[in-house]
Amino acid sequence: MSSYIASDFHHYRQLYKQSIEDPETFWGDFASSEFTWHKPWDSVLDADLDKPDISWFSGATLNITENCIDRHLNDKGDQTAILFEPNSIEEQAQHISYRQLATEVNKTANMLLSLGVKKGDRVCIYMPMVPELAYAVLACARIGAVHSVVFAGFSSKSLADRINDASCNVVLTADGGFRGTKVTQLKSIVDDALTQCTSVNNVVVLQRTNSKVTMQEDRDVWWHEAIDGQSDVCPAEEMDAEDMLFILYTSGSTGKPKGMVHTCAGYMVYANFTFRNVFQYKPGDVYWCTADIGWITGHSYILYGPLSAGATTVMFEGIPSYPDTNRFWQVVEKHQVNIFYTAPTAIRSLALCDISLVNQSDLSSLKTLGTVGEPINLEAWDWYNLHIGKEQCPIVDTWWQTETGGIMISPLSGITKTIPTFATLPLPGIQPCLMNEDGNEVLEMEGEGRLCIRHAWPGMARTIYGDHQRFKDTYYTTFPGKYFTGDGAKRDKEGNYRITGRVDDVVIVSGHNLGTAEIENAINQHQSVVESAVVGYPHDIKGNAICAFVTLSPDAVVDQDDFRSELLDLVASMVGPISKPERIQICTGLPKTRSGKIMRRILRKIAAGETANFGDISTLLNPESVNEILQVAGQQSPTR
Ligand code: WT7
Repeated sequence: MSSYIASDFHHYRQLYKQSIEDPETFWGDFASSEFTWHKPWDSVLDADLDKPDISWFSGATLNITENCIDRHLNDKGDQTAILFEPNSIEEQAQHISYRQLATEVNKTANMLLSLGVKKGDRVCIYMPMVPELAYAVLACARIGAVHSVVFAGFSSKSLADRINDASCNVVLTADGGFRGTKVTQLKSIVDDALTQCTSVNNVVVLQRTNSKVTMQEDRDVWWHEAIDGQSDVCPAEEMDAEDMLFILYTSGSTGKPKGMVHTCAGYMVYANFTFRNVFQYKPGDVYWCTADIGWITGHSYILYGPLSAGATTVMFEGIPSYPDTNRFWQVVEKHQVNIFYTAPTAIRSLALCDISLVNQSDLSSLKTLGTVGEPINLEAWDWYNLHIGKEQCPIVDTWWQTETGGIMISPLSGITKTIPTFATLPLPGIQPCLMNEDGNEVLEMEGEGRLCIRHAWPGMARTIYGDHQRFKDTYYTTFPGKYFTGDGAKRDKEGNYRITGRVDDVVIVSGHNLGTAEIENAINQHQSVVESAVVGYPHDIKGNAICAFVTLSPDAVVDQDDFRSELLDLVASMVGPISKPERIQICTGLPKTRSGKIMRRILRKIAAGETANFGDISTLLNPESVNEILQVAGQQSPTR
């Protein structure tokens, strides 16, 4: 057992203390004892959080896939690395051993090389949750190409924006993807997207659903043809510690999504460290994270964290409600899952189902439960604890972000005392602080404020692809010298943190981080719309839902029902179906400050059903708009 993986609470305290007093020795010793490097580093950390300019392990060289695959072949070659559970219960699960993983990743890497992909090239991956997606990600890392995985639920417009932002040369996709009873036509979405992209030379198409697709000559190749005959040996590219490993897009509070850049060494070290500490993975455990690899959770805690730790990681293609709402629990029993990691939105919707369905499955293999993505409400926490964990499994409420690369604040399973709805304590190496709106730190232990992090950690994003100024403005300017998370938090007397939610214009719907500005942009495309304001409001199942307030041009004549469905279509096609507003309210004016800024704070309250206490609205440009909106809101039924 590594001395860097906490074995009890006292040990956690010791590690924490050590990591704060001397971060460089702490991370340097962990990194040198736990990973395979080609060259050692010159210095562990060089960081200037004002610029910000951050580099970890600079001078070192490595390849993350040697750490995730090759080094396990001696003693774990036959152990299952990826346990694939298909969408359909008729289809056999696949137990992919570390040895098979090596073969498949190398062949895929050689396929990419044969298409001319070079170190540093960006490869867009738009694929369903099948083993080839994992091979593709790791194959990019093998040859030093930068992967940019785009969640396969995004629209062609969102896909095109992401391909263009990173100037990807190659797109890896599939004919289609299974989702319950539905098939998503991925290749035709790619075709649509590529009408707006010029950087892409090749599209590789995996056959999964046998959907009818059109292959464009000179551009499109079938995966099975391109991989046929490729060698199963592919030397790993020697990467500098700070070379880019991947770009992953996350919604911003203004328009364009941000391509967060993570680099090879620091990300690997942090994903591994957090995976082992938080979940307390033991050899032989079966671990299942239900996220999609299109999100950071899938990158860090389906692939890189577990594989670098030599774990068995489950990859599930389907959805929680197919063929029935007890699918998760059936899979837990079938594969004897020990560690289960999911999102509050899934827990809330599964909690609505008949409990006898849950009880049909034997869940006694479970040891640890995890949650991530948004604050978990008490009812959901209690249900998870009682009905899934049978009050025997610690719940790790893991707070982190795409930007942080790995878990930042969380109980360590079986070590930290859990408190319902609290993410509890920071991981070793993480120094959270709370800031007032006026820029001062909340110094008392018990308090509330904006959550910031004051010291560099290995997994932190290094920049926004192509826009370092925006990176600085978004994260390092509000509170100079500190990383600003965008979240609010409370801290209790013992130093436990409870995340209260976003303080900016990002709304988390069913665990998906949606930028309100992007949705507004889509709505504003409608010819009758003058202006719109999109806010989130609390929703029983989704955590939050989207409400759009829209003003129409004076000469617009619209049929309300048609208009609403046109707006929904616009949002679905430009942003993606998950961003569709639950409610749309037409109004004659939006409340604005005198400088013309829409007062979303008030709209948020109205959407949440409040009818008073909007603060002083007399200073607004148009105070009358508030009453008008309230009247209409009162008449409207809550659904569209
Ligand atoms: C935002 C980041 C990190 C993986 C999934 C989401 C919210 C995340 C928690 C939690 C309360 C949470 C925050 C954060 N969030 N985990 N355990 N408790 N809130 O990644 O899409 O980058 O979203 O998700 O608001 O800022 P993301």
